[in-house]
Formats: sequence, C-alpha cells, structure tokens
Amino acid sequence: MKGEKMGAGSKKRVLSGMQSSGRLHLGNFHGALENWVKLQDEYECYYFIADWHALTTLYNEPGKVREYTQEVATDFLACGVDPERSCLFVQSKVLQHAELNVLLSMITPIPWLERVPSYKDKKNELSAKDLTSIGFLGYPVLQSADIAIYRADFVPVGEDQLPHLELTREIVRRFNHLYGEVLVEPKEIVTKSAVLPGLDGRKMSKSYDNAVFLGDADELVRKKFMQAVTDPQRQRRTDPGRPEVCNIHAYHKLYTDNARLAEIEQDCRSAKIGCVDCKKELIERFFERFGEIRERRQELAAHPEQVTEILAQGAVQAEQAAEATMRIVREAVKL
Ligand code: TRP
Ligand code: SF4
Repeated sequence: MKGEKMGAGSKKRVLSGMQSSGRLHLGNFHGALENWVKLQDEYECYYFIADWHALTTLYNEPGKVREYTQEVATDFLACGVDPERSCLFVQSKVLQHAELNVLLSMITPIPWLERVPSYKDKKNELSAKDLTSIGFLGYPVLQSADIAIYRADFVPVGEDQLPHLELTREIVRRFNHLYGEVLVEPKEIVTKSAVLPGLDGRKMSKSYDNAVFLGDADELVRKKFMQAVTDPQRQRRTDPGRPEVCNIHAYHKLYTDNARLAEIEQDCRSAKIGCVDCKKELIERFFERFGEIRERRQELAAHPEQVTEILAQGAVQAEQAAEATMRIVREAVKL
C-alpha cells in the first residue's frame, strides 16, 4: 500500500482474512476473493492470511500451514489483490493481534463462545480430531482481535461468518463499556454469491474432495470438469436434462454469456446437446475467464521470493496500524 494513500482518513477501512488451511478453490474465489479485489477501488483495504487460525485445527501439521500460507498469498496476488493499493500480510507476523487477543479473552464469557454455531459444527465435522483446546474455542476471540485492531469499518465475509461478526461487535461493545470508546464496531459486507456447488453437487469444499483449485494444472482442471456429476437423471445422451440441478450449468452461469446460456438451457432440456459437449464448452469458457489469473499465478509460483517480499512489506505497514491502536488500548486498560 502506498504511503500517501494511508491515514488520509477519507476512505473507510475494510479488513478481511482467510485461514491458510488449504489452497484456494473456485468457491473461495467467487465467495470472497473476487469481491475483495473490487473493494480495493473504494476502500483502504487490509487483507491477511490467518495462519494462527489455521493452527487451531492443523496444530499437528505445522509445515502444512507454512506451505498453505505461501500458496494462499500467491492465490491472492494472482487474483488481483494489489499490494500497491492494499496491505497484504500474514497474521502471525503482526504480534499485536495476539496481544489484543489476550485482552479480549479477559472480557469474553465462555458461554458466548460455546454458542457460536461454527464451534459445534466444525467440532462435529472434524470429530476424529481433538479440538478441545482453548485456541479452538477462542477462535472467534482471535478473529475479533484481528478486526478490532485495525478499527475496521467493514468486513467482507460469507454468510457462514456472520455469527463471528456479531460476536465481534458484542466483544467490542463490552470493551468500550469497560474501558472507554476505543474500539470500532465493524459492519459486514456480505458476499452475495450463492454457495458454489462442487464437482459432486455438494458445496465446494476442500474437505469433500470436490473442488477445482486456482492452482490446478490445466490437465487436472479438464479432468475434473469432465468427471463432474451432471443431472443424475440424465443417464443416456437422449434423456432430457435439467440445468437447474446440474452443477456444470451452475458454472456456465458464471462464465458463459447470457445469450449462449439460454441456448444451452434449451438444448439441454431437449437433449440436443450432450453433457460431454456441454462440459467441453465450459472448459473453454473457464480457461478464458481464468487465463490471466492462472498465468500470473504461475509466474508468482516460480518466484516465491517476490511473494515473500510483498508479505514482509505488508507486515511492516500492518504493524504500524495495529500498534497505533494498541497504544490507545494499553492506556485504556491501564497497562
Ligand atoms: N474465520 C475466517 C475464515 O475462516 C478467517 C478470519 C480470521 C477472518 N480472522 C478474520 C475473516 C477477520 C474476517 C476478519 O475464513
Ligand atoms: Fe448439465 Fe450441460 Fe448435461 Fe445439461 S447438458 S445436464 S447443463 S452438463
């Protein structure tokens, strides 16, 4: 982020983060990243990779978190997060997040955390893993610290994150009530895009093994789309299809122009077009849409030191902003 654009106070501040618990896939792109990139035109943006949050579940695989952090940073940059305009950094490089996390932990009742839906959901989903740690229960407190420390006005998030944002506001209110009006209650910017189906029709997720990753090789992308489930009732080429239940069609809606889309819908219903041809067409559209992004990604992946340098500069700037808040916070808590 260029110095002259910072601190002018004219632009509202946006902050968001993603855990480095895997490489990014199309669901992450359409559900978040695409919107982050657009927000850069209007806001002062802070975007970060939440590697401490990743450790709440991947605590026994530290090497992986480091690897994913680099991959996610590469994905962010390839997709258009612009270090000239926005601050891009890694959470664990800005220690003030942890300091504020400690202070917020003092005033966050445990029942507030046990009520957060993602707590129980994720625990059930990952039932094979021991998730009885303080860190896992305290996930939303750390997230609140991430947000509050930049006094962010807006946080772009998917619907699943709304309870975390509500909790952040409650913690901020409690802090301000106890210590004075120091922190800012953030508002959400909900990303409208519906949940993107995965290749098997369930929600696209790295844990379902149904995702197309931004960094997948061309051949793998083709193979994944060609093997994807379509309308399950369309067994033979001559069976009419139902685009509304077909996930290939859901992707066409994102990548194919409206006129052609209407034709495909009609031709699917009348069995004029077969799924193989429909998929081949989608693959072409996909490579058109992501050609530039994927090229940029390859270049960045070939020069990881460039990514590392951008993250290092981002951390310096983030730390300045975080430290400015912490000075007021320490004073307010009489430390
Ligand atoms: N919980 C978010 C996710 O899983 C990641 C995150 C951590 C975050 N801290 C944040 C998002 C602060 C927004 C703001 O994607
Ligand atoms: Fe889906 Fe296309 Fe097959 Fe219709 S023709 S079922 S839209 S893949």
